[in-house]
Amino acid sequence: MKEEIRVLISEEDLYARIRELADQINRDYEGKELHLLCTLKGAVFFTCELAKHLTVPVKFTFVKCSSYGGSTTSSGKVHLDLDLDEDIKGKDVLVVEDIIDTGNTLSFLIDILDARQPTSLKLCTMLDKPSRRRVEGLTPDYNCFTIDDLFVVGFGLDYDQKYRNLPYIGVVSFVEE
Ligand code: IMP
Ligand code: MG
Repeated sequence: MKEEIRVLISEEDLYARIRELADQINRDYEGKELHLLCTLKGAVFFTCELAKHLTVPVKFTFVKCSSYGGSTTSSGKVHLDLDLDEDIKGKDVLVVEDIIDTGNTLSFLIDILDARQPTSLKLCTMLDKPSRRRVEGLTPDYNCFTIDDLFVVGFGLDYDQKYRNLPYIGVVSFVEE
């Protein structure tokens, strides 16, 4: 099987929407220091592009959870591979995700983060696939694009660790060679 990729969201549209989200975040966090919690590896491109347009003071921290193997369906089990390197108690934390699919990863992460008593904890995602949600009531505070039930790659998102470097969001399909 050969993988084919077609553009779903162009680089231009992505950048414009990320800018809009950054403007909204700047307004919402005015007078505060924002702790961006980037979820590795997928949210790296989105976090960087978003942060470039933030004017409120920003600090970065990274966390890594895993639930996907090499396939396009979630295993349902989430594991914390890399924990934060700072205490988030009393801080305004914004979790930056690449995509919310079933919601298993985020709900697992939110439970861990909530227990550490941040002043505020909000969610920002580049993409949302609400039709696939398995966790009740998990809605991002900031979302660039809502998409259908498609497997997407690019701008940080991978298929089998490939395609993260694409500057746009693409849909993968598998065709006979
Ligand atoms: P969830 O736990 O099912 O919400 O899945 C979250 C994680 O699965 C995301 O952070 C991605 O790393 C990965 N994922 C979900 N859907 C896609 C997709 O369409 N393309 C690439 N990765 C995906
Ligand atoms: Mg992710």
